[in-house]
Amino acid sequence: MRTVLVLNGPNLSRLGSREPDIYGTATLADVAAACATTAAELGLATDFRQTDDESELIGWVHEAVDGRLPIVLNPAAFTHYSYALRDALAMRTAPLVEVHLSNPAAREAFRHTSVLAAVANGTVAGFGVASYQLALRAVAGLLDARA
Ligand code: DQA
Repeated sequence: MRTVLVLNGPNLSRLGSREPDIYGTATLADVAAACATTAAELGLATDFRQTDDESELIGWVHEAVDGRLPIVLNPAAFTHYSYALRDALAMRTAPLVEVHLSNPAAREAFRHTSVLAAVANGTVAGFGVASYQLALRAVAGLLDARA
């Protein structure tokens, strides 16, 4: 069974209480559980992680690069400015889908740019927890297309 790394950036540990009008009331544990359920339906396993630390997140991307592991990534605020994370992701060979709970295009101007989107297979944004589930479906499709 293939494992998908589901990686989460800064402040996502606060889901549930963080700006619930924007991000909803599901906690990160709820997101992890939804991902595990959807992945199992797709014949995949998830390795779900969160960090506030750019260095740690880049280390996990290196791990995915070396292991050719697919990634579902919510880069949180790193989306908008982390060229270091982009450079790490550019080394990947397995599928990468960027996800956002909210729709950054409908929010503040600084959120309208993703410096990562161009090195991903695609982006799913604006559907809350379902963004992750749709991203996992996209990863499954990309893996099937390569098999
Ligand atoms: C986010 C959107 C980002 O702009 C923001 O910095 C986040 C969460 C989302 O999931 O909607 O932390 O990635």
